[in-house]
Amino acid sequence: ADNMAEEAKKLAAYSAVDNNVQNNHVVGVGSGSTVVYAVDRLAERVRQEKLNIVCVPTSFQARQLILKHGLMLSDLERHPELDVAIDGADEVDSELTLIKGGGGCLTQEKIVAGCSKFFVVIADYRKDSDALGQQWKKGVPIEVIPMAYVPVSMTIAKHFGGEVSLRMAVSKAGPVVTDNSNFILDWKFEHTHNWKEVNTAIKMIPGVVETGLFVNMAQQAYFGMEDGSV
Ligand code: A5P
Repeated sequence: ADNMAEEAKKLAAYSAVDNNVQNNHVVGVGSGSTVVYAVDRLAERVRQEKLNIVCVPTSFQARQLILKHGLMLSDLERHPELDVAIDGADEVDSELTLIKGGGGCLTQEKIVAGCSKFFVVIADYRKDSDALGQQWKKGVPIEVIPMAYVPVSMTIAKHFGGEVSLRMAVSKAGPVVTDNSNFILDWKFEHTHNWKEVNTAIKMIPGVVETGLFVNMAQQAYFGMEDGSV
């Protein structure tokens, strides 16, 4: 099953790159394990087709992927307008509302996606969902300024219910620290909400940097399926 999911990620990533990247494009490079395949394919096409492509990363990981493949690295100062951004997601509902941030890179991912004319999600069949929470069980990631993590957690639980926890590091004592030197809260919600309203309300809490709810941002999602189709 793990092998199948990897094959599905690759299929989705390759299709998205083949259908959406053209010569002279500025491309946003997302984060996570599915994007690895997208950058593989991008590098292959740049070499084979001699494409002129500029890449804007959404994380330290994405930057490393771009550099490793010898692709052209840029940023939003030089390229504030992107043609396409390609990124994974933790869950995608039927309206293309996303949960992102399983890898902790949600803030830069949302900024880059917001600068892009076209935002494409790539994922395996396990991420395809009717309603958020059906597939991804870890809740909505929220990036917070470290000093505010307790009051922000309390405010979210009080207003929206559920449980909020500080994400802890795995191979280090203490919390996960993001690429922006902040903390990540994971909010396990109890039921479906109006995600647009909840996203706005959570963003207004002092200390919140960004939420992992991507509402009305993705134009398209590519799902690699178990039968090898996309
Ligand atoms: C990173 O913070 C996330 O938003 C990723 O885009 C998301 O977790 C998808 O990752 P995978 O492709 O590894 O599932």
